[in-house]
Amino acid sequence: MGRTSIIQLKKNMKCSICSCGMSKKLPYCDNAHRDYNKHNNTNYKSIKVYLLDDEKIKISCSNWNEDE
Ligand code: FES
Repeated sequence: MGRTSIIQLKKNMKCSICSCGMSKKLPYCDNAHRDYNKHNNTNYKSIKVYLLDDEKIKISCSNWNEDE
């Protein structure tokens, strides 16, 4: 399972992508992983993306629920 997102990113823009699936702003990280890690002995971290040019990217993660 999982969800796929297509996002438009601008040159020199940095964004944080969620890897844990807890974010309310998928595909972006909203730091919900910090509280989840604290209570579940996990070590999720966001994925940092820094674009060298304007790009549209397609990303997916098996931790993202399809109905989020
Ligand atoms: S909320 Fe999922 S990695 Fe930050």
